[in-house]
Amino acid sequence: MAILVCGGAGYIGSHTVKELVDTYEVVVLDNLTTGFESLIDERATFVKGDLGDGAVLDRIFTDHAIDAVFHFAANSLVGESVENPLKYYRNNVSATLVLLEKMIEHNVKRFIFSSTAATYGIPDTEMITEETANKPINPYGRSKLMVEQVLADIAHVHDFQYVVLRYFNAAGAHESGTIGESHDPESHLIPIVLQHLLGQREKISVFGTDYDTADGTCVRDYIHVTDLARAHILSYEGMAKGEIANETYNLGNGAGYSVNEIIKACEAIAERKATIEYADRRAGDPATLVASSTKIAAALGWKPAFDLEAIISSAWAWHSK
Ligand code: UFG
Repeated sequence: MAILVCGGAGYIGSHTVKELVDTYEVVVLDNLTTGFESLIDERATFVKGDLGDGAVLDRIFTDHAIDAVFHFAANSLVGESVENPLKYYRNNVSATLVLLEKMIEHNVKRFIFSSTAATYGIPDTEMITEETANKPINPYGRSKLMVEQVLADIAHVHDFQYVVLRYFNAAGAHESGTIGESHDPESHLIPIVLQHLLGQREKISVFGTDYDTADGTCVRDYIHVTDLARAHILSYEGMAKGEIANETYNLGNGAGYSVNEIIKACEAIAERKATIEYADRRAGDPATLVASSTKIAAALGWKPAFDLEAIISSAWAWHSK
């Protein structure tokens, strides 16, 4: 039995492939528009192609005994989604519908979907549970929520099961030091701070100092990419054993850190001082996003293994290379 990882050349996908290949046969489908072939573990079979290309999917589902699909392939920049919504609805929604149709056609029954805290929009609670209302405030969040709704509808009528995983802020790098966070352009806080501390950027811009938080900067819940990867595998195995089906889980550490706190933590690990510019708010940023992940802990025993220091240390080791 094999697992198809769509988007396996991306940041979170490639880390999940690395965790999977010890136990499972893995096929990666990626068009390399935002992913990098160098991130794919060499034990996986790589197919370069588009998610929305039914012929490529026919070939994969015919050539390999695929038991489950892990679906990471998506565009994920909030700002870009506001500027270019059709790109997000085409790549994140339409292409996913082709994948789902092909799964049904080829009788592939298990699906793990990468969703996001962006489905919650600006939540009216400090600690977000899966029961918190979904009110996305940008096309990226809406595109992910649309697919979640499609999954519930098809599981209702087809022999098909899914798990939705809503990530908070993915960060960190694989402990082997061989793969880590690579985006081009980079927009995420921790890699930007570390790149600055390595002399690759002139300064750090802090977006907004007047939020309703302890120090006025945005608070986020940072979760190590390997903890995310392990949650996918537990979800798959839980479905395969018949313990869970058609569930949605938050994935976070349950602790919030402000932008200022992240910069300080990076400075401490790098033993270097940052040059900071305080700038205006970035459009679409909620003040605070912190996850309660007690649901997946109770259902599958998932528990994050990496705290903030371990997350930043692993990222620093990767970026320093
Ligand atoms: N930030 C800065 N300066 C930077 C970069 C980021 O101050 O140069 C701030 C942001 O404004 C935000 C925080 O750092 O307050 C974290 O920003 P990231 O871009 O690292 O992450 P986001 O919280 O914006 O994004 C994450 C995921 C998205 C998801 C979103 C949900 O990457 O996919 O959470 O809100 F949609």
